[in-house]
Amino acid sequence: MTLLLFLSFLGLLSSCWGGILPAQVPQVSPLFSPHACNQSLVLTMVDITLQDINKDQKEGYILRLNRVVDAQENRQGGPDSIFYLTFDVLETSCHVLSKKNWKNCETRNLHELVYGRCKALFYVNPTRRILYPSAYNCTIRPISKRNVHMMCPDCPFPVQANYSDPSVFQAVSESLAKYNKEVAVGKKLCFFQVTRASTQWVVGPAYFVEYLVTEGPCTEGQQHLKPVVDAEPVGLCKGSLTDSRALLEKFISVSCEFFETQPTVAPESQPTESQNGQQPACPTTASLQETKGTVQFLNDVDDRKDKDHQEKQSLPPIPVQMDSTSGKPIYLPPHIRTFVLSKDLPMVFPFPEGSRSPECPGPAENANPLILPP
Ligand SMILES: *[C@@H]1O[C@H](CO)[C@@H](O)[C@H](O)[C@H]1NC(C)=O
Ligand SMILES: *[C@@H]1O[C@H](CO)[C@@H](O)[C@H](O)[C@H]1NC(C)=O
Ligand SMILES: *[C@@H]1O[C@H](CO)[C@@H](O)[C@H](O)[C@H]1NC(C)=O
Repeated sequence: MTLLLFLSFLGLLSSCWGGILPAQVPQVSPLFSPHACNQSLVLTMVDITLQDINKDQKEGYILRLNRVVDAQENRQGGPDSIFYLTFDVLETSCHVLSKKNWKNCETRNLHELVYGRCKALFYVNPTRRILYPSAYNCTIRPISKRNVHMMCPDCPFPVQANYSDPSVFQAVSESLAKYNKEVAVGKKLCFFQVTRASTQWVVGPAYFVEYLVTEGPCTEGQQHLKPVVDAEPVGLCKGSLTDSRALLEKFISVSCEFFETQPTVAPESQPTESQNGQQPACPTTASLQETKGTVQFLNDVDDRKDKDHQEKQSLPPIPVQMDSTSGKPIYLPPHIRTFVLSKDLPMVFPFPEGSRSPECPGPAENANPLILPP
C-alpha cells in the first residue's frame, strides 16, 4: 500500500515535473529510517527548530518541548538527509517578545495549559556540519475546559482576553494603576494589549489578567485603557483583582517583567506572587527573515459542534498541515545553500506515517493524558 502510494507519487512527480527534472527520475529510496526519540541528535534538531518557532512569533507565548513523538530520516544517496520531526509542545508563561530561550520558561499549571503538536523538516549535512530547520507548522489548543472542570471544579477558568469586558478592564486598569503608583518611579507604563484572562470565585469574583505594556507618556484616554498602538511593548504584566464582598474590600496584585531587548525604565517588579528565576535570554542570531511556518491556534474542543470525542472522552488528534513542500527540493536559504556541494538538493516527500522507533514517543515532561494528543 505504501509502496503503491509512493509509486503513484513518483508518477505524479514525473508527469508534473517532467520538463524541469532530469529525464530520469532519480532512483531515490523512499525509505524512512526511524530514529529513537531520546537520541541526542534528534533532541538537538528539535531544540533548534523550537528556538526558530519561538523567535518567529510576534504574539502569544513561548512554546516548550513536552515530548518528541517521531523522528524519521530520509536519505537520497548523497551525504545529506532530511529529518521529518514530530513533537508535542506546551505553552509557557513567557511572552514571545521576551525572546527568552524556551528552556528558561516554565509551563503553566495544568488547568490553564495550552498544548499542541509541531511538525518540521530539518536538513542535515554531516560533512559540511549543517543543521538547518527548513519548515515547520504547529497547531495548539487550550486544555478542555470541561475536563478541567471535572478534575478541579474550583480552578480558574479562561475568559476572553478582551479589554472591553468590564471585569477584565477593571482588573487591568486597577492592577496597572497600582504598579504605576507603587513601583514605577518617574515613568509610567501604559496599557497595550490583554494577552490572557481568567476568573475564579475566591471570597468573591477574582480576575487574573496578563497584558502587554508600553512606556509612558500614555496617550489621552489612557484611563479608558485606550491601547497605545504605535508604541512597542516593553514588558508583560500579570495582575489580579479580587473583590471580597464579605470584607467589602478589593485585593489587587501586580507584577511586571520587562523584555531583555528593551531598555528598562522601571525597576524590576515587586512580585506579589513568587516568580520564576530570571535567567539571561539567549542571544538570538540575526536572521534573514523568511517565513518557515506558522503556529495555528484552535479553540477548545468543547466548543466544537460534533460531540463525538467528548462522548468518547478521548483527546481528538491535533491536525498539523505539513505538505506544501512535498515533491519539491528542500528549501535552503542562499547563505546555507552555498555550503552544499551536491548539485541537487534532496526532495521532500509527504510526511511519513509509517512505523516509529520503539523508543518513540519519547518521555513526556508532563505526561497527563489530557494534554498528550494521540
Ligand atoms: C533511549 O531509551 C532507551 C530505552 O529506554 C535506552 O535504552 C537508551 O539508553 C536511551 N538512549 C539515550 C541516548 O538516552
Ligand atoms: C470584546 O468585547 C466587546 C464587548 O463585550 C465586544 O463587543 C467585542 O466584539 C469583543 N471583541 C472581541 C475581539 O471579541
Ligand atoms: C503550514 O501551514 C500553512 C497554513 O496554516 C500552509 O499555508 C503552509 O503551506 C504549511 N507549510 C507546510 C510546509 O506545509
